[in-house]
Amino acid sequence: MIPSEIDPVYERIQLLRTELHRHNHRYYVEDRPVLTDQAFDALLRELEDLERAHPQWADDNSPTQRVGGAVTKKFNSVRHRVPMQSLANTYSREELDAFFDRVEGALPEEPVCYVGELKYDGIALSLHYAGGRLVRAVTRGDGVSGDEITANVRTIATVPLVLNGTSPESVEVRGEVFLPFAAFAALNNDRLEQDLEPFMNPRNAASGSLKLQYSAEVGKRGLAFMPYLLVGVEGVAAHASGFEQLKAWGFKVPNEEDHTLLVAHHRNEIYRFLDRWDADRAELPFGIDGAVIKVDATDQQRRLGSTAKAPRWAIAYKYKALAKTTRLEAVVYQVGRTGAVTPVAQLEPVLLAGTVVKRASLHNEDIIRSLDLHMGDTVWVEKGGEIIPKITAVEFGMRPNGALPVRFPESCPECGTPLVRQEGEAQHYCPNAIGCMPQRHGRVVHFLGRRALNLEGLGTETVQALLDRGLVQQPSDLYYLSESDWYLLPNFKEKSLQNVQLALEASKQVPFERVLFGLGIRHVGETVAKKMARHWGNINALAAADVESLQEADEVGPAIAESVRAFFSDQLNRVEVDRLRAAGLRMEIDGSHTVSNVLQGKSFVVSGVFTGYTRDGIKETIESYGGRVVGSVSAKVDFVVAGEGMGPAKKAKAESLGVQVITEVQFNQMLQNQ
Ligand code: IVH
Repeated sequence: MIPSEIDPVYERIQLLRTELHRHNHRYYVEDRPVLTDQAFDALLRELEDLERAHPQWADDNSPTQRVGGAVTKKFNSVRHRVPMQSLANTYSREELDAFFDRVEGALPEEPVCYVGELKYDGIALSLHYAGGRLVRAVTRGDGVSGDEITANVRTIATVPLVLNGTSPESVEVRGEVFLPFAAFAALNNDRLEQDLEPFMNPRNAASGSLKLQYSAEVGKRGLAFMPYLLVGVEGVAAHASGFEQLKAWGFKVPNEEDHTLLVAHHRNEIYRFLDRWDADRAELPFGIDGAVIKVDATDQQRRLGSTAKAPRWAIAYKYKALAKTTRLEAVVYQVGRTGAVTPVAQLEPVLLAGTVVKRASLHNEDIIRSLDLHMGDTVWVEKGGEIIPKITAVEFGMRPNGALPVRFPESCPECGTPLVRQEGEAQHYCPNAIGCMPQRHGRVVHFLGRRALNLEGLGTETVQALLDRGLVQQPSDLYYLSESDWYLLPNFKEKSLQNVQLALEASKQVPFERVLFGLGIRHVGETVAKKMARHWGNINALAAADVESLQEADEVGPAIAESVRAFFSDQLNRVEVDRLRAAGLRMEIDGSHTVSNVLQGKSFVVSGVFTGYTRDGIKETIESYGGRVVGSVSAKVDFVVAGEGMGPAKKAKAESLGVQVITEVQFNQMLQNQ
């Protein structure tokens, strides 16, 4: 709602929005920020405060929406106004020549200008702007209709939310969303640290990220967008000038200066462009799987037209995956913190895309079997979007006589305990959590981590030295070492002891949720630990819960519940928890967040989207007023707080079980009932 008269607060909000959009553009698109991060954050906070105080002026395209917050339960299917075609593609120069011949044959007696672009390896996306404002973002889907993922796309820093300057009433921009290598590596590191399966490659990671329900999570992933097509905008006579227009509106576009765009008057220039990027693609900060060649002039494009599937005015030239052959020298089996055993191929070193490759992950036994891998085999290693290269095939003709098949070990290579492989899982585990050295070491290192007890100052080498001397077997041992124990370590002086004691003391203030995460229970990452800590309040309640009730906490499914149950069923783990508690670590949530007890003893399910809270926000509010948040509706639940878009099935279920369904307004009234 826009105020009818000039309102100074509204004016200020609009000014802040314009300024923040401009600074975002300078930072993410132009790569030359003019504000410090602090100054930017201060403006953003001011805008957030004003928007909170004046919800009538909320705007989905405000810079505050970049961080996300909206939750999409189910993505709506939307029909594309113009179908999203695919591209004809080729790996061969002959076919490319045939493409140029066809184009020039169909346009005799007139010069044809081509544009060369990179073929980004990501997910196609269509953006709709109405009156210069982003109103809809839709995936390609099957080309005819796709999923509407607008809330998630708003968090992508290089997608303008509001177009600069003037623009037609309706604009459609198509392009590719992808995850640059650095963001991909950071995401996978995070996932590994949190015990989650890493993504296979940046493309999968981008696609998975776009489909997340929590847009705030999408915003943290570091996705990028590159436009490649402007659909049906009048007055743009050529593809290359379309990029000029997109740039003026605020998009990051490929350009001739860094050779990511080429406007060519002859096919030979295009061939040079293709050769250059075939050689240099490994240097790019993101993955490409080829280049795209397009006829530049819009009028010529129109006359060339399309086949049923693809335009006749464009073609994708795909590069062969970066692959080489080398010899498999050995397979080693690494045992991780949770006991997972990962096979790693040791290769004769080979130069591939500028780096020497010596190792490749084989992931699990099934992969070894499907490759039919034998010792001494000549194997193909490929570097796709992945950071770690993979073995894609074996040259069977070059197999040495008498070569033995690679066999997954039956017992742990570190401690000799027979390995187990649970039904339905691909991974083998060593069950000897307590006695197996890498597991012990990994568990102690995990406990020390920044996101757990934050004792990183102790260092991996110190931990190894403590383990080697048998001084530490479990994290709790750290709290029971005597001064003379510490002095057994090499180069350990008085100052080192002081630092260690300070760090150990400080760790006693670390909140329960991080202590819980630090225990290193399989499948219990940071988020799950937080949810469980909030739900159960203390470790005794959690340890006593059965598999069914464990799943009442948000984000806890059967696999996590089983794993938590198994952890607390083990007497040794219970002793470990007791020793940590006795050492002074926090084993219950901090009561200081409690605002009041009006919701004491009441359990709630929240569903849908709320106007005054984010999804996490309403849950935190329930807990800080003494209530409990439960994941699904059952007869034991007291209230369902129904936001916008709550599914009718859930509502019907609640009503049939006699659970009271309340609105956000009624919920707010409950909080007032002191
Ligand atoms: S043009 C009608 N240009 O490749 C022509 N596509 O294999 C529309 N892609 O679905 C596509 N980089 O997702 C074009 N520079 C580029 C591209 C590109 C990546 C993707 C796009 C498309 C797929 C076709």
